[in-house]
Amino acid sequence: MAAGGGRFLSFEGIDGAGKSTQLRLLAGALAAEGRAVVTTREPGGSPGAEEIRRLLVEGEGGRWSAETEVLLFTAARRDHLERTILPALARGAVVLTDRFADSTRVYQGAARPDLAAEVERLHAAFIGREPDLTFLIDMDPAVALARGLARGGAEQRFEGRGAGFQAALRAGFRTLAAAHPRRIRLIDGARPAAAVAAEVLAITREALA
Ligand code: TYD
Repeated sequence: MAAGGGRFLSFEGIDGAGKSTQLRLLAGALAAEGRAVVTTREPGGSPGAEEIRRLLVEGEGGRWSAETEVLLFTAARRDHLERTILPALARGAVVLTDRFADSTRVYQGAARPDLAAEVERLHAAFIGREPDLTFLIDMDPAVALARGLARGGAEQRFEGRGAGFQAALRAGFRTLAAAHPRRIRLIDGARPAAAVAAEVLAITREALA
């Protein structure tokens, strides 16, 4: 049980796995049951963190070093936690976030495995909070990448890195889920969205009961 009675849930997965759709469907289902729901995302989720998001997702691929990137993601997360997540939990809301610290562990960890210990140290020092429950929407990267690239837009910096990198990300998420089986639930995303949503809602209801 989180401080103030709220619950903190995150959705994770590779680019295009459908986690944003699942977050939206769960938010709708919980709101229909009369629960206070706050939906948010990373990088971003608060005005300051959304400014940092633009620094991260726009511009050319080599704009930041891996070290600077980890610091920017962590700075954005700190602002998101302070300004959006903790106040909502204190009000008793269910907070659903599209990505949280597991994304830094997996994405920055895949790019630079040697930084994994620094990532955990920064997390412990400045964030110090895990979601109560995490849904890993798992999917074959070939399918997910095709969906992601099809969406287009300015935020190409992280999505243009190819199927090999996405396969490493999928493996990273699955390893993390295996290491934290109570918190992280592995969900097969390669099914109709309604079937995935039904499983996510059932697990959530159990967690909130
Ligand atoms: P996001 O908006 O979730 O993209 P998408 O909806 O396409 O999955 O995140 C933007 C990109 O930032 C995405 O490729 C994942 C990456 N990312 C990291 O590398 N580290 C992080 O800590 C976070 C939160 C995101």
